[in-house]
Amino acid sequence: MADTKRKADIGVVGLAVMGQNLVMNMCDHGYTVAGYNRTSEKTKDLVEGPGKGMAIIPTYSIEEFIDALEKPRKVMLMVKAGEVVDKFIDSVTPHLEEGDLIIDGGNSHFPDTIRRTKALAEKGILYIGTGISGGEEGARHGPSIMPGGNPKAWPIVRNILQDISAKTRDGEPCCDWVGQDGAGHYVKMVHNGIEYGDMQLISEAYYLMKTGLGMTHEEMHEVFSEWNRGELDSYLIEITADILAYKDKDGSPLLEKILDSAGQKGTGKWTGINALEMGIPVTLIVEAVFARCLSALYDERQLAAKTLAGPSKKFEGDRKAFVEDIRQALLASKIVSYAQGFMLIREAEKEYGWDINYGGVANMWRGGCIIRSVFLGNIKEAFDRKPDLYNLMLDDYFRGVLERCQDSWRNVVAQCARMGVPAPAFSTSLAFYDGYRSSQLPANMIQAQRDYFGAHTYQRTDRPKGEFFHTNWTGKGGEVSAGTYNA
Ligand code: 6PG
Repeated sequence: MADTKRKADIGVVGLAVMGQNLVMNMCDHGYTVAGYNRTSEKTKDLVEGPGKGMAIIPTYSIEEFIDALEKPRKVMLMVKAGEVVDKFIDSVTPHLEEGDLIIDGGNSHFPDTIRRTKALAEKGILYIGTGISGGEEGARHGPSIMPGGNPKAWPIVRNILQDISAKTRDGEPCCDWVGQDGAGHYVKMVHNGIEYGDMQLISEAYYLMKTGLGMTHEEMHEVFSEWNRGELDSYLIEITADILAYKDKDGSPLLEKILDSAGQKGTGKWTGINALEMGIPVTLIVEAVFARCLSALYDERQLAAKTLAGPSKKFEGDRKAFVEDIRQALLASKIVSYAQGFMLIREAEKEYGWDINYGGVANMWRGGCIIRSVFLGNIKEAFDRKPDLYNLMLDDYFRGVLERCQDSWRNVVAQCARMGVPAPAFSTSLAFYDGYRSSQLPANMIQAQRDYFGAHTYQRTDRPKGEFFHTNWTGKGGEVSAGTYNA
């Protein structure tokens, strides 16, 4: 029987599924945990239900909750991101002392975490904003945990967070310090963006097999199961194989009865907005967000489907070989997506003054989270080989894979275009690959046009960079340029 007389090592506010599961996970690792929920039923449900007999101290007011905590007090918020977090911070802070710690474990937007870390530091309260990935199951048995915030807070809570986190195949915790203020939530945001990209790529692969090749669900299940035994071994491929095999009550695949209109809670969109603000071409994630938006225009699509024509071309060629082409296209596109994600983190590091350990991030994503995969082990190795690796695509291993996959990748994109099967993520990743490896792009034309109609000036290839020129293209415009600022 649990000894509930001692004070709690940590307290959790918010006992919905994620909060409850984290509490029980902490108890499994020998910690005594105080629990508080705004509505007391949830607290009772936990201690009388799944948490019965565990070292949980149920509390029914903020005062009782704070009083149950060992000093320095560690308060973990597992509440809805947004205003609710501020509300709870405001209600617990007056009861805390200097050196106590608040941890926000929700999907908070990183600028909020930057603001909260600073505001609480002024009151002597330590703050951590941490990404937690892995859903309910992960929270219960080992999530990926991405903490950032006030660096002084890390030693206080490191053991607890690393103990409850998932472990990689080599036994390393999928939890490490990410960086100052909003860095943890930032990295979780990019994780979610990459999650959107992976899900879109997998969906395109499925749809191509279904509509382009006319494969059955059993066949597709076999293919994804097979892929999960190789380079693409990952949680999302694994659940895709399961989903394809799942039958509704009438024995037909449930998947085909699910409305093709995707939802989203906003973390992919935040990634895209941030990428646009920083000018980093995170094309695959943004395309994945827009693919969800397009899917959500369900009624409009039904009308357009009756009006707009497409090609009547059917697949011609070796089906088995094409399935392998799709696998290679997925792998190559995934490399582009992760390369873009790390490009964004690199820029954020400069912009927000963080110091990010890239290999550490790859390690945190190797286990417990939704994008966990063997592939992330390859990324970790790439950063081990070269910690300051500028771009993942330039690592020898990934460069080799891209070279090996590119014929298949091009074939998939070309076949999709010929058959009229939408494959936005496969296409945009290939376009990025071709753009990134081009020493020349058609942007000279854009610059000429900008200068022609708006005297926006251009630089010349035969002059040092930094010198700006304007041409009076028509002989009618003036010689005055419009200035050279860049957004
Ligand atoms: C995770 C998930 C989790 C959640 C997403 C779903 O890492 O455990 O990413 O955070 O499932 O918020 O996001 P959408 O509803 O936007 O798809």
